[in-house]
Amino acid sequence: MAELFAGLTTSHVPAIGAAIDNGKTNEPYWQPVFKGFEFSKAWLEKLKPDVAIVVYNDHASAFSLEIIPTFAIGCAEEFPPADEGWGARPVPVVKGHPDLAWHIAQSAILDEFDMTIVNKMEVDHGLTVPLNLMCGTPKEWPFPVIPICVNVVQYPPPTGHRCYMLGQAIRRAVESFDKDLRVLVFGTGGMSHQLQGPRAGLTNQQFDYAFLDRLTQDPQALTKITPLEYLREAGSEGIELVMWLVMRGALNDKVEEIYRFHHIPVSNTALGHIILENR
Ligand SMILES: [Fe+2]
Repeated sequence: MAELFAGLTTSHVPAIGAAIDNGKTNEPYWQPVFKGFEFSKAWLEKLKPDVAIVVYNDHASAFSLEIIPTFAIGCAEEFPPADEGWGARPVPVVKGHPDLAWHIAQSAILDEFDMTIVNKMEVDHGLTVPLNLMCGTPKEWPFPVIPICVNVVQYPPPTGHRCYMLGQAIRRAVESFDKDLRVLVFGTGGMSHQLQGPRAGLTNQQFDYAFLDRLTQDPQALTKITPLEYLREAGSEGIELVMWLVMRGALNDKVEEIYRFHHIPVSNTALGHIILENR
């Protein structure tokens, strides 16, 4: 049977992708950011997952404002990098895992989560930047990926509680898949940041640290944060943190925190990263 053994979160700041693509990772501004992922890359290389589920949000690359699925799952054989205005990023095409993806879609939908099934999709920085941070810049990504998109772009986003329950449904789906696969789940986005308006550039270290603590120890408390609280405390784009709760819902109640990293500023955001393993 398939096993969901660990989860991690990373921010997916597009400027990180641009720093990689333009050879700037050794510049003083970027050095501490990439250094913060050295442990994580070694951890992942050792664990060699068979497949990763990457929870992220599309930034109007695959879905325009004409169609906005709340939850979508990529069931295709592959997902090319999207052109986000400067040409497609020079990163490998993301290979999917259609068998497991369709199984998760079936299981989650019969479990009363209305997933949109996506058979053709380009993936943007929301998915490719976390892969870069955890895997570097290989010729091929080291494992297939099942993209799961959450709408946090257009109000109303799903609640953190709903996202946490989706994570639990994903866990049930993975554990009922009839092949021996070791599955890793990524939650991406966040942490505190606001990209526009009078509060543009807002970050909130205190909120972020408390969120990281509770993510490990008391995720139920995080499921009670309302969209308005995210807006007030973590800025307008802080709502991306609900995607971390999908990851957390997919893990055991008790987890071991393997590593965490927090850095301000990255572009105009607070970057957060954590690795959790099931006990
Ligand atoms: Fe984002």
